[in-house]
Amino acid sequence: MFRTHTCGELRAEHIGKEVTLSGWVQKSRDLGGMTFVDLRDRYGITQLAFNMDKNAPLCLEARKLGREFVVQATGTVIERSSKNANIPTGEIEIDVTEFKVLNASKTPPFTIEDQTDGGDELRMQYRYLDLRRNPVQQKLILRNKVALETRKYLDGLGFMDVETPVLIKSTPEGARDFVVPSRMNPGQFYALPQSPQTFKQLLMVSGFDRYYQIVKCFRDEDLRADRQPEFTQIDCEMAFVEQEDILNVFEGLIKHLFAEVKGIEFNEPFSRMTYDEAIHMYGSDKPDLRFGMKFNYLNALQGKGFAIFDQAETVLGIVVEGASEYTRKQLDELTEWVKRPQIGAKGMVYVKYNSDGSIKSSVDKFYSEADFQSLAATHNIKAGDLLLILSGELAKTQKQMNELRLHVAQQEGLRNTGAFCPVWVLDFPLLEKDEASGRYFAMHHPFTSPKVEDIALMDSDPGAIRANAYDLAMNGVELGGGSIRIHDRGLQEKMFSLLGFTPEQAQEQFGFLMGAFEYGAPPHGGLAFGLDRLVATMSGEESIRDFIAFPKNNSGRDTMIDAPSPLEPTQLTELGINILPNGH
Ligand code: AMO
Repeated sequence: MFRTHTCGELRAEHIGKEVTLSGWVQKSRDLGGMTFVDLRDRYGITQLAFNMDKNAPLCLEARKLGREFVVQATGTVIERSSKNANIPTGEIEIDVTEFKVLNASKTPPFTIEDQTDGGDELRMQYRYLDLRRNPVQQKLILRNKVALETRKYLDGLGFMDVETPVLIKSTPEGARDFVVPSRMNPGQFYALPQSPQTFKQLLMVSGFDRYYQIVKCFRDEDLRADRQPEFTQIDCEMAFVEQEDILNVFEGLIKHLFAEVKGIEFNEPFSRMTYDEAIHMYGSDKPDLRFGMKFNYLNALQGKGFAIFDQAETVLGIVVEGASEYTRKQLDELTEWVKRPQIGAKGMVYVKYNSDGSIKSSVDKFYSEADFQSLAATHNIKAGDLLLILSGELAKTQKQMNELRLHVAQQEGLRNTGAFCPVWVLDFPLLEKDEASGRYFAMHHPFTSPKVEDIALMDSDPGAIRANAYDLAMNGVELGGGSIRIHDRGLQEKMFSLLGFTPEQAQEQFGFLMGAFEYGAPPHGGLAFGLDRLVATMSGEESIRDFIAFPKNNSGRDTMIDAPSPLEPTQLTELGINILPNGH
């Protein structure tokens, strides 16, 4: 037997017991008469004690142990003379009578500790060692719990886990596809699913009525902290439901997960707002509601001779509470920040409502104190507050102000408060127009149903159609989204034609789905959560990378296995691909 207990299990009640442990050497300390070795596994750390007086040869052997050696030790649980209140096993140690090195280890390239000295690159290259570190293990343990509780909740409601294929034809989710050449069909390619969207709809046609799958999805898009080329969805679909049914079931799922995994109860229903409201108040379809700073529309500042505001479509302000004492330097820094190309504002105006009642702005030449006082009365600005103003074209300014709002909140420490603020964003537009090409694209995906009352707009004003589409955002992160689907062939054809497909193209790409709609497709809808984002958000973190056991880096590479990599010429020939291995 390799072990009787784990390294996190033994307590004072085990004193006197003979035990065997196996694990990795975290560190060893040689104190002359005694040698102590911290033995670690994923459950914790237990101290092994070797006594020079009692057993010199064993003690000398123990001194040779290097970091990360794999060791099996047998001995008696004894009370520690100096207890360690910081770890659960801190009251005891093992008086070792026998031990064996199960495997030696090279010195690891970085320390296997909570705060490691290893940089990102090195940690990724030796991911199996990084995964030995407690903070990384805790993230995967949390992920496992969330996945397990998801299954329990959905299973309890009669959802069935059905696997869908991974080698498929492209699904138009908006990103590029990863493709796989077919040896048996030279010159033809499978695509890896961006999501199981069309399959889960077909399962509804088949009568499975409540489907879920915790499933890998693949998208060849630019990577960011919250995006990986392969990620996992909690993908769900239901038949015979309206939007309200779906919101209730999945609000229930998120509440269940927070209660079971984090012990957090949401007593109130999740807040809701329409897409238009979200954009109007926060300039974002995933507003961070942990703090206020709603947008103020400051039309009153127009027509007073300040040309920049007068010529702008909109003048937008946010109030930073208690920030009137920002220094000139801080304000200059913020101005420079919004002027960076990534944000693209031309400048920023500020108004300080000082605690002593005086008012100081960067546009004092154009406005009187009375102007600013009346602004304060309308927008509830108090002494001690700072008003930050951007102006310009409406949609652009809303976007820029969203960035500024998040940036200032970050600086003010409002974004790591431990709070969780979910919000359903409803009534997304069905289509968005690409200004360059003048073409419409589906804002969610082409299978999303327009609101019944807006169907008439399909001929007259497609851009104004609202969809039965919804997202769940939390703390500024889009956790998931979905829609009620089209289940009628005629309407689906019409949607494809709005998206610029000819009837032949629509038939060629989606004939299988539209054909299925002709055989009794029930009304249906669903949504998908990003599991990686959900667990990261539940942990208060923005990056999803450490919540994935073997993630890719920002260039989409796995540096540990060194993928992607060139293929042998013979493999390429077999696949009928005429490129040279160096990519030309
Ligand atoms: P959508 O494209 O909104 O919807 O994706 C659903 C959720 O998946 C997560 N997500 C990602 N997570 C990590 N890395 C990525 N690259 C990535 N892309 C998306 C997000 C997102 O909210 N088929 C539809 C769902 C439906 O209509 O039922 C879909 O895939 O959290």
